[in-house]
Amino acid sequence: MSQRTLVLLKPDTVRRGLVGQVLSRLEAKGLALVAMELRTIDAAQADRHYAEHVERDFYPPLRDFVTSGPLVALVVEGDEAIEVVRALNGATDGRKAAPGTIRGDLSLSNRENLVHGSDSPESAEREIGLWFPHL
Ligand code: CMP
Repeated sequence: MSQRTLVLLKPDTVRRGLVGQVLSRLEAKGLALVAMELRTIDAAQADRHYAEHVERDFYPPLRDFVTSGPLVALVVEGDEAIEVVRALNGATDGRKAAPGTIRGDLSLSNRENLVHGSDSPESAEREIGLWFPHL
């Protein structure tokens, strides 16, 4: 079933000059770009995006990180796009993510893990509405 999902190329991806590489992986997989924007977000947008994590111990430094510079927000579309993007991203912790995944190949951090992908159809709908309300 064709789905849309929200992807963030976090500030570490932009800082490290990896936007092209990460986008290439998504495109090469066959996912279609539906929307894309370079944006620097404030704490309020970070809190909305990570609403389910705001009380967690790891959240304050995560908020500092995601607001630390421009990120690329995008919506991609394709068959089973939510699971497909999560598989391409790999496990959250870059140190443990499998080689061949974006995080496994390019990240050595549990926080600065380059990418975010919606984790369910419900979060995809909520997150797409939050980042691209016109869609
Ligand atoms: P993401 O897929 O965007 O979802 C939540 C984010 O929180 C996650 O990627 C990481 O960037 C970050 N994160 C999750 N768990 C931890 C943790 N234990 N320590 C630091 N950052 C974390």
